[in-house]
Amino acid sequence: MAELSLRKVTKQFGAVTALSDIDLEIAHREFVVIVGPSGCGKSTLLRVIAGLEQLTTGEIYVGGEAVHRTPAAKRGLAMVFQNYALYPHKTVAQNMGFALRMAKTPKSEIDSRVNQAARILQIEDLLERKPRQLSGGQRQRVAIGRAIVREPKVFLFDEPLSNLDAALRVDMRVELAKLHNTLNATMIYVTHDQTEAMTMADKIVILRSGKMEQVGSPMELYHRPANAFVGSFIGSPRMNILPTSVTAVADHTVTVELPGGEPLPVPIGAATVQAGDRASLGMRPEHLTVGADGPGPTIAMKVYVTEPLGGETILYGHVGDDQTLVVKVPGELPVATGERVPVHINPASCHLFDDNDIALPRQT
Ligand SMILES: Nc1ncnc2c1ncn2[C@@H]1O[C@H](COP(=O)(O)OP(=O)(O)OP(=O)(O)O)[C@@H](O)[C@H]1O
Ligand SMILES: [Mg+2]
Repeated sequence: MAELSLRKVTKQFGAVTALSDIDLEIAHREFVVIVGPSGCGKSTLLRVIAGLEQLTTGEIYVGGEAVHRTPAAKRGLAMVFQNYALYPHKTVAQNMGFALRMAKTPKSEIDSRVNQAARILQIEDLLERKPRQLSGGQRQRVAIGRAIVREPKVFLFDEPLSNLDAALRVDMRVELAKLHNTLNATMIYVTHDQTEAMTMADKIVILRSGKMEQVGSPMELYHRPANAFVGSFIGSPRMNILPTSVTAVADHTVTVELPGGEPLPVPIGAATVQAGDRASLGMRPEHLTVGADGPGPTIAMKVYVTEPLGGETILYGHVGDDQTLVVKVPGELPVATGERVPVHINPASCHLFDDNDIALPRQT
């Protein structure tokens, strides 16, 4: 049985449809990451699950029980907010124990749960401090500690790391993954950072304008994006998506035109397009290579920016009729601005999207 089920969840704010017909099953101990651009409904989805917003239509079940009419405090869920929302005049220990005190939990029980959570989060020596005496990362851990002491069935995190600097974000990301293993808890985590989604999730939910675009494991979404939006959302740098047209369709091959006019025969599972149709060609920067070697054609790219990152180099250039292409190559590749380099395209790593941006099935 799913720990959490959403059935046809819809939320309207006046004329704005923030969530539209969301169906989602989340298993016990699963780590689910909800991603999507700003305003797509991520926070609203968490708040509806938590009971901080009433849904307009639909149903929510926790452990098989309908909770969509249950008040937030009785749903057995704990939410960690982006801004931490700590009480400034209470100590760390008082902040962490507050919900238990409100629920009239005996003091000895509160102390033992607070101490245990502090041990897990390694903030035992901070328990008597006030929030203003803490760093951002420490406050973050207190906010998580406050959720842990409630022993919730499901943790809900709304962009908890977005206020932290890049290095601390990476550390906290690893800490949260460890915590997930230690607590064996179900976690739903909202972010707009695709790297966090890829590295932390068992399952990613991609939202756009209140609708679910695709649900799957990080690798499913990376290798088999359902549409061009998911293709360009997952992966960094983004997938190159070039407008093209279909020149020929054969059994398990759709041939499209490359910038410059050369044909590219792409292997696919089933053809859902015809010669003459418009399409989009998706190519991940890390799947393109500089050089003419290998199966498939080579096109000339005029480089306008290079980003040497040490371990890899990212090239930005123009191909064909001034279309932008981004290529990521391992190691250092000294290329001058304005230089032309040959970019090799392996058709087996290409994605095709039809005129409605829906992916053509890839070969298995
Ligand atoms: N209380 C509200 N009243 C009216 N509209 C709202 C309310 N809360 C959210 N919205 C609208 O609902 C949509 C979804 O908002 P939501 O906060 O869920 O987005 P989000 O995905 O969390 O975005 P962000 O990444 O910027 O936090 C937006 O169009 C927003 O303007
Ligand atoms: Mg939000």
